Amino acid sequence: MILLAGAHSFATIGQHMARMFTGLQPSGALHIGNYFGALKPFVELSNEYESYLMIADYHALTTLKDASALHANILDVARDYVAAGIDPKRAVIFKQSEVQEHTELAWIFQCLVTVPFLELAHAYKDKVGKGLEANAGLFAYPMLMAADILLYDTDVVPVGADQKQHVEYAREAAAKFNAAFPGRAGPGRAGGDTFKEPKECILEKIATVPGTDGKKMSKSYGNTIPLFGSKDDIAKAVMSIVTDSKAESPENVYAIHALFRSREELSELYTANKGKYKALKEALIEDIERMVAPMRERRATIDDEDAIRIIKEGSERARAVASLKMSAVRKAVGVAL
Ligand code: TRP
Repeated sequence: MILLAGAHSFATIGQHMARMFTGLQPSGALHIGNYFGALKPFVELSNEYESYLMIADYHALTTLKDASALHANILDVARDYVAAGIDPKRAVIFKQSEVQEHTELAWIFQCLVTVPFLELAHAYKDKVGKGLEANAGLFAYPMLMAADILLYDTDVVPVGADQKQHVEYAREAAAKFNAAFPGRAGPGRAGGDTFKEPKECILEKIATVPGTDGKKMSKSYGNTIPLFGSKDDIAKAVMSIVTDSKAESPENVYAIHALFRSREELSELYTANKGKYKALKEALIEDIERMVAPMRERRATIDDEDAIRIIKEGSERARAVASLKMSAVRKAVGVAL
C-alpha cells in the first residue's frame, strides 16, 4: 500500500515515469522500525517510480568521525536495501561522495541563501539549543540535501516527518536559483527553469513503530528489535518487551505484533492466550523470524565486493544525470567557458 493519497497521480508524468529520490544516512544496524518505516515503503515505491536511493555519506560526516565505522556502514546500507527487496538493476543505489556534483552544487546554493535562513533549520537549531557547538557542515546541511534532490529533477522525496523542513529548503533553493539565474528567459523576466521543485511524501510509519518499551522504536532509546539479527537476537529483544503484569493482554507485545498480523488474527491469538505473556512473545518471535529469515539469508549472500560493485555501478548511472544538470548550472551562473 502506498502512503500518500493521490500518489498515483505522481507516478507518471506525461510519458515519463516520475522520479523519486531519497537519502539514507549510513548509521549502522537497522531495526524493524526502520524496515516498516522506511525500507518497506521504499521497496514499494521503487516499483512505481524511477528511483534514486542515495547513501548520504557526506551528511553522515557531520556527526560520524570514525573512518572504519563509516566505511562499514556504507557497504551495509547497500546490502540492507538489496536484502530488503530493492532491485539494484532498476533502482539506482549510489553514494553521495562518488558523485562530486553534489558538493559542487551545495556550494552554489550556499552562495544564494543567507545565514539567518539556515539558522532556522531544525537540526542546527536543536544542536545550538542544547548548548552544543555545531560544525559548519551541519549548518550547511540543508543545502547539500537540496543539491542531492535537485540534481535529479526529482518529483517526490519520501522521508520521515523530521525531514519535511529539509525538503522545503530544497524547494526554496530551487526557486531562489531559478529567480537569480533566469538563463534563456533573460534578466528581469519570469525566471529560469533549471530546477524542478520537488514534493515530500511523508512516511507516517516512521513515527509510529513502537519499541520494546512502548516508546517509538529508536536506536537512541535502546528499545529496538534488530532487523538482520539472528533468531536468538530477535528472541532476546522480544523477551525484553516491557509488560504490565496487571493487564491480561500485554500491550507492548500486541503493538509490535500488529505490524505482522491482522487485528482478527491477533484477537483470536490474544484471547486464547490470555495472561500467557511468554506464549504470546514466542508467537511474536516466530512471526518476526518468518519475515526476517529470507531477508537475512539474502543479505548473507552479498559480500563486500558485491556491495562495492552495486554502489559503483549505481554511482555511474547517477553521475550521468548529475553531470548534465551541473553543466546547465555552470552555464546559468556564468562560470562555464
Ligand atoms: N537528511 C536525511 C536524513 O537524515 C538524509 C538525506 C540526505 C536525504 N540527503 C537526502 C533524504 C535527500 C532525502 C533526500 O534522514
